Amino acid sequence: MTKQYRITLLPGDGIGPEIIAVAVDVLKLVGKQCNLELSFEEALIGGAAIDATGEPLPAETLTICRNSDAVLLAAIGGYKWDNLPRHQRPETGLLGLRAGLGLFANLRPATILPQLIDASTLKKEIVDGVDIMVVRELTGGVYFGQPKGIFQTETGEKRGVNTMAYTEAEIDRIAKVGLETAQKRQGKLCSVDKANVLDVSQLWRDRVIAMAAKYPDVELTHLYVDNAAMQLVRAPKQFDTIVTGNLFGDILSDAAAMLTGSIGMLPSASLGADNPGVFEPVHGSAPDLAGEDKANPLAQVLSAAMMLRYGLDEPEAATKIEQAVLQVLDQGYRTGDIMSAGMKLVGCRSMGEALMKVLKKEN
Ligand code: IPM
Ligand code: MG
Repeated sequence: MTKQYRITLLPGDGIGPEIIAVAVDVLKLVGKQCNLELSFEEALIGGAAIDATGEPLPAETLTICRNSDAVLLAAIGGYKWDNLPRHQRPETGLLGLRAGLGLFANLRPATILPQLIDASTLKKEIVDGVDIMVVRELTGGVYFGQPKGIFQTETGEKRGVNTMAYTEAEIDRIAKVGLETAQKRQGKLCSVDKANVLDVSQLWRDRVIAMAAKYPDVELTHLYVDNAAMQLVRAPKQFDTIVTGNLFGDILSDAAAMLTGSIGMLPSASLGADNPGVFEPVHGSAPDLAGEDKANPLAQVLSAAMMLRYGLDEPEAATKIEQAVLQVLDQGYRTGDIMSAGMKLVGCRSMGEALMKVLKKEN
């Protein structure tokens, strides 16, 4: 029987439309090959939504997302919208989508591919074999804590405030995702906090320890975030799964991404309890590259694979896509961000065509 899935596409801004077009071509082909009936509906988010409707996340977009089985997002933002008031910024749309769908768990893998080892800025022996999964809490912490804002003090001076807050329930549910993710990997979980200074981190650490008691097969360690940043670039192979709060996860996942040579290769999955997940590249909208056919579409394509694996439970189709990505790299195709000597420099569209060729040959 053909399985049917409704996928919401959120191309967003900058290179978004170019890279998502490649992922859609790949999905259509693999869908056919794996007997999946995929239907696509596009919706607006970010700067594109601001231009069309005045808001970065129109209510209609959230409704379309909620009524679908999975959401494939490209990237949002650009200089054009950088100076708008915060409630009209593209980033606010993305945060609204995460909050609106209750996507509290963000999985960001950083895996070094042997084909791209020379693209890393770190020494080969340091990064060879790196395979890290960052589990970032995504709907709490200082991104969402109250009070927040810029207030006038009694002296008339302005004071900017954000609040880093986590409840026990918020920590427990992300700790569970971290522990279960570690279980499926190498069984090692490192929880990152700042418990030597922050009360919110002390509670985080206490709850992670309590939750881990139910997972005796997972080896739990703790690092302060400053040390974790240092260890990531000093000896990244010590890490298997990392679980951490929203802000620390934002920062550490960029650092982990760069171990692999290019943030242009890394996908992510944002998952909640009762809504479809959102699958998106870790990189941003790269406004400087927009419209130039130079962007690397592979993080977007790998996000589509993550969507099939984690969102739709279609691992066979996911593996097909992941294998095709490895094959085009084996064939020497490289976009500018991962280019090295002796390889074939291609643009976004040609990289997509190379993928399609490999996939067509498969079947
Ligand atoms: C990310 C981005 C976002 C974040 C921005 C664009 C709001 O940096 O997904 O990592 O800070 O979460
Ligand atoms: Mg970030």
